[in-house]
Amino acid sequence: MADEISDSKPENPKCGHDAARRQFLKQSSVLTALAFTPGPVVQAAAAEWDEKIAAPFEKVGLKLAVNGKSYKLSVEPRVTLLDLLREQLHLTGTKKGCDYGQCGACTVHVDGKRVNSCLALAVMQDGREITTIEGLAKGDDLHPMQEAFIKHDGFQCGYCTPGQIMSAVACIREGKADSEGEIREFMSGNICRCGAYPNIVAAIQEVKTGGQKV
Ligand code: FES
Ligand code: FES
Repeated sequence: MADEISDSKPENPKCGHDAARRQFLKQSSVLTALAFTPGPVVQAAAAEWDEKIAAPFEKVGLKLAVNGKSYKLSVEPRVTLLDLLREQLHLTGTKKGCDYGQCGACTVHVDGKRVNSCLALAVMQDGREITTIEGLAKGDDLHPMQEAFIKHDGFQCGYCTPGQIMSAVACIREGKADSEGEIREFMSGNICRCGAYPNIVAAIQEVKTGGQKV
């Protein structure tokens, strides 16, 4: 009778010994580390006290005027103006599209100039005046650009619209709306996925030629 031939390799007794040795060394170094760590430090790490204690010191004081209202704020240095507006001040009219300065959905005015708020750090805006889409209307009276966008169907889904309107107002104020070509060029940083561009251009032209104060 032929003997069965096994495929499995013969067990190497040295391998088993090495694994047990590695395991022993791992366990003893963890135990040694814990033995030399003061008790309160272990407790603090478990409760994440270090982060809680450090948090207030990491924030920076900031004064801003947003839509004519003054704010005293405390922000982490990494916070963008867009996140400050949306998350701390709950002004969610300013939209987050790409978050990389490519779509213009987050456009606001800083000291009257259009800015992609996703690229602006909040701490750099200390003492500045910010206007968002919420600050354009005067109570129930819409801004002329808002009226014109409605009249010319300048939006479809509406997601890009706040940024488009803020850029459109700035475009006229900058004197960059004298022709259709100029409007298209100076509005090119604002992307509309719905393709409402011809209507947006028509709205801007109407406000520009209508002589209303923007
Ligand atoms: S969200 Fe700021 S440019 Fe797109
Ligand atoms: S209206 Fe929808 S993205 Fe512009």
